[in-house]
Amino acid sequence: MSRIHWVVGNWKQNLLRADARTCAQAIADGATSASPVRVGLAPTYLALDVVRAVAQPDGPVHLFAQDVAAQDSGAFTGEVGPAMLADAGATGSIIGHSERRALFADTDELVSRKLLRTLEAGLSAILCVGEGLEARDAGKHETVVISQLSAAFSNVTPEMLSDRLILAYEPVWAIGTGRTATPEQADAMHRRIRSWLQDRYGEAGRDRSILYGGSVKPGNAAELIAAPDVDGFLVGGASLDPASFLDIVRAAKAGA
Ligand code: PGA
Repeated sequence: MSRIHWVVGNWKQNLLRADARTCAQAIADGATSASPVRVGLAPTYLALDVVRAVAQPDGPVHLFAQDVAAQDSGAFTGEVGPAMLADAGATGSIIGHSERRALFADTDELVSRKLLRTLEAGLSAILCVGEGLEARDAGKHETVVISQLSAAFSNVTPEMLSDRLILAYEPVWAIGTGRTATPEQADAMHRRIRSWLQDRYGEAGRDRSILYGGSVKPGNAAELIAAPDVDGFLVGGASLDPASFLDIVRAAKAGA
């Protein structure tokens, strides 16, 4: 199986530029481009350039934004579109993170437009899906995730599917809570997501990388990556500490 493995750090609204540079440099020094695991960092928009300086075009670190507008330009105060991200040297963007969905009104419909525009612009997308605790407790986790997928992919055609499309399963109850999905829970959902993609897009859907996110730490990364359908991680809190993040990268390499 030739799925690409990724470990991507989502720094959220953390790190001023000088700290972002130091953190990115330590991560770049510890990662290697020849590794079977691709490493990505998603700083704030304002730190994209300092991380880019460390990342280098062919270096070991791929640069992502944390969000992207659904349009390229125009009268949209505060927005940053895909062409601007490309101009800043980003590989792509995280889209539909649960914090955007819950706190900033990123609806399924908006997420779908962001995904479409990003893929059309030739950038990579890390599309996040995941259920809340209530849905998990009610046994409705798969229904919620499948409905997020159906909405997000409503206008995505088979021709748009490539390595540039990455998925991340992030159960909301596991984000920043210290509570992680078990490898069995993660694997079961990743299998469900993969089978949905395969039903809709055939092989091109089946072969997409599906990352797990939600309190990934050096101590649980090895058991999670051992799950057959887990192709890497989207890491929040632990990505702010280069040593922890690099330990997670090493665990992903060992399990890749
Ligand atoms: P966490 O965040 O690792 O701090 O739980 C993950 C994420 O929100 O991507």
